[in-house]
Amino acid sequence: MSRPKFPVLDTERLRLRRFTPRDVEAMHAAFGNTTAMRYWNSPRFKTRAETARVVRAMAKADGPQWWLAWAITRRRDDRCVGMINYHHRDVGNGRLELGWILAPRHQGRGYAREATAAVIDYCFDRLDTHRIEAMIVPENTASIRLAETLGFRFEGGPIRDRWRAGDEYRSVLMYGLLAGERR
Ligand SMILES: CC(C)(COP(=O)(O)OP(=O)(O)OC[C@H]1O[C@@H](n2cnc3c(N)ncnc32)[C@H](O)[C@@H]1OP(=O)(O)O)[C@@H](O)C(=O)NCCC(=O)NCCS
Repeated sequence: MSRPKFPVLDTERLRLRRFTPRDVEAMHAAFGNTTAMRYWNSPRFKTRAETARVVRAMAKADGPQWWLAWAITRRRDDRCVGMINYHHRDVGNGRLELGWILAPRHQGRGYAREATAAVIDYCFDRLDTHRIEAMIVPENTASIRLAETLGFRFEGGPIRDRWRAGDEYRSVLMYGLLAGERR
């Protein structure tokens, strides 16, 4: 059986594409970084091998299914700057969750906003999604701001100890965006 076509998404400055082994180094700058991972749902990845294993898994996935991850790359040089994914896609309820991370040196340039807006359009327009969720640790002001600029609304929380990150639990706020509310 032939592989389904991976949904490449282009924006003004970015191409969201399938991961390749070439992206391991760039992704380790995010997954291996203590600051970038401080509000993630797992501890930082201590070794390149751990990042390589996750990049391999992300590279295998084709859409649409219950999760899919895109490498966020710069169109001008194909350099990977981070990752965006949907996960916990529940087709019956028309619902999924988004996750995003950029390597610290690429933050603060509007890349996350550009990439997330494209994925939101894809989820609403091509996956028949009605509701997009983002779970965010209360101290994660950058992610809260990102969600709010894209039209997400704060709906509740902290939901206590929702994530286990190594030997600690993390509480999260629930943000939601319904079809028709996107900016
Ligand atoms: C969240 C993250 C992806 C934002 O990436 P980014 O490319 O720097 O974000 P953008 O430049 O697109 O900015 C989006 C909005 O967030 C705001 N923002 C970005 N960083 C911020 C910060 N540290 N504090 C407050 N606001 C911030 C921007 O000003 C912008 O809002 P505006 O349009 O009103 O000006 C990045 O900080 C990151 O990778 N964090 C670590 C991973 C993480 O916590 N992921 C989420 C787990 S739920």
